[in-house]
Amino acid sequence: METFTTDWLGGTAERLFAKHRGDRIAEIQWSELATSHLADDELDRLRTVWTQSAHQEWCAAGAFTTLLQHLLLARAPVDLIGMAGRFVADEMVHVELASRMAMAYGGGVPLEVDYSAVCPQVDGDTPLLQACAVAIRVSCVGESFSLPIIAREFSAATDPVAKRVLGRIAADEAPHATVGWLVLDWAKSLLTEDDRAFLGTVADDAIGALRPALVGSPKQLDYYEWILRNRITEPLSERRIPISG
Ligand SMILES: [Fe+2]
Ligand SMILES: [Fe+2]
Repeated sequence: METFTTDWLGGTAERLFAKHRGDRIAEIQWSELATSHLADDELDRLRTVWTQSAHQEWCAAGAFTTLLQHLLLARAPVDLIGMAGRFVADEMVHVELASRMAMAYGGGVPLEVDYSAVCPQVDGDTPLLQACAVAIRVSCVGESFSLPIIAREFSAATDPVAKRVLGRIAADEAPHATVGWLVLDWAKSLLTEDDRAFLGTVADDAIGALRPALVGSPKQLDYYEWILRNRITEPLSERRIPISG
C-alpha cells in the first residue's frame, strides 16, 4: 500500500489536456469555494470525501483502459470503441477536479491505496466474454450505480464552485453509464445461454462488491436499492442476463 498522491506535469501536456477539459474548468475560481462557515470536523470530512473521490476517479480511468483494451481484442464496432476512447481523459478531468476540491477544503488527507489494483478484474475465457464481463463490472454496474448519486448531489449542491464541479462530472458520467449497455446490445446475438449465465455471475459479484459500502449509509439504503433495481438488475434482466438477487 502507498499514499495516494496526484501530480501535474504542465507545459505541453497541460496545453493538450486543456483541449479536452474545455475552458470552463480553467474559469473556476477555487478560492471562491465557501469554507469559512464550516467547522473543522466538517472540513475534515469534505477533505476525506474528495480525496477518496480522486482515487475512485483514478481507478475509473483504469477501468476504462481495461474496457477499451478488451473491446479491441473482441473486435467490437469502431464507433462503439471510439465513443469510449475519451472516457480515460474524462476520468483524469475528474481526478483533477476532485483533487482541487480537496485542496480548496484545506488539502488532501493521507489515503493508503494499492496502485497495482487500478484495473478491474477480467473474467471469461474468450475475448467477447471478457469484453462483456468488463463492460458489466465497469459500466452496467459501477458507472450506472454512481451516475444517479452524482446527479442527485449536483441537484442538492448550493455552493457555485461545488455545483460546477459536480455538474461537469455528472455530464461526463452519463455516457460512461451507457457504453456497457451498448456493448451487451452489440454482443446479444453472439452470446450463448452459458455465456449469459456466466455474465450473470459476474454481475452478481459486481453488485455484491457494492453492498458493503451501502450499509454505511442506512438513510440512503432505499434509494440505493431503487438504483440497483431500476438502473442495473432490470436492464440486465431485459438483456437476458440472469441475476440471482
Ligand atoms: Fe468519473
Ligand atoms: Fe466515469
